[in-house]
Amino acid sequence: MAFNLFMVKVLLVKSLVSAETLAKQSRKPSGWLGKNILQPMFVKGNADLNQFILEQMAVQANDQILEVGFGPGELLFQLCQQNPSALFTGADFSPLMLQQATLRTQRFIKSGQLSLIEASSDNMPFDRFSFNQVACANTLYFWQPPEPHFKDVLRVLKSGGKFVMGFRTGEQIDRMQLHPTIFARYTTAEVESLLELAGFENITIQSRIGFPVDSFCAVAYKPSYKSMAESAKINHLSVKS
Ligand SMILES: C[S@@+](CC[C@H](N)C(=O)[O-])C[C@H]1O[C@@H](n2cnc3c(N)ncnc32)[C@H](O)[C@@H]1O
Repeated sequence: MAFNLFMVKVLLVKSLVSAETLAKQSRKPSGWLGKNILQPMFVKGNADLNQFILEQMAVQANDQILEVGFGPGELLFQLCQQNPSALFTGADFSPLMLQQATLRTQRFIKSGQLSLIEASSDNMPFDRFSFNQVACANTLYFWQPPEPHFKDVLRVLKSGGKFVMGFRTGEQIDRMQLHPTIFARYTTAEVESLLELAGFENITIQSRIGFPVDSFCAVAYKPSYKSMAESAKINHLSVKS
């Protein structure tokens, strides 16, 4: 029943709003449409993907965690509620999403467990080696090109830190008939190779059956000091021999 109602709403919105407006709003929600149409669509349509990300993160006590592109703030809400001894930060470049997520997560902001800022994920105002984990959902498509964003995520992660990124594949986006250029399309193999090229290691991508489409989640790690030192040693030896 809930499924049908959601799909009816999505079809109604698609018939009233152009694909370009919908895509621009998905990339950076603003105004009445962003608050009243896109926000509820994110909350309902991305709940399964956010749950998958949350489980993949397996947060530890005292972790320091960043979410980029937090949108309505649902994932941060769940994370704060389930992990009272971890500290969370969120960065999103939409002033509307910052306002809405602030309302949703007020009690965690007041207690000092969460702080939210307006910032773009390719130029974040955080020191390098700040976070154990970075999470991100449904934002990759809008990073055009994606490399500067992956580089900044890598920069702010601690040595050995974990990046958990939820996404829909290009095939799913095609099936949803989302805008051809505002939504960039990737296969899972392309996501893996983008992460590898950016400098991540131990990359895995898993999928899970979900609503309204299956969820995909990439987990990748920033190389630790130890592994960097070892590969430098190997390179040094191979240059010598
Ligand atoms: C499709 S929404 C997804 C929201 C939420 N993560 C979810 O899955 O429900 C994309 C979000 O990423 C944000 N975003 C897109 N590009 C961004 C960037 N370069 N830097 C920061 N936030 C960005 C948008 O403002 C929006 O809130």
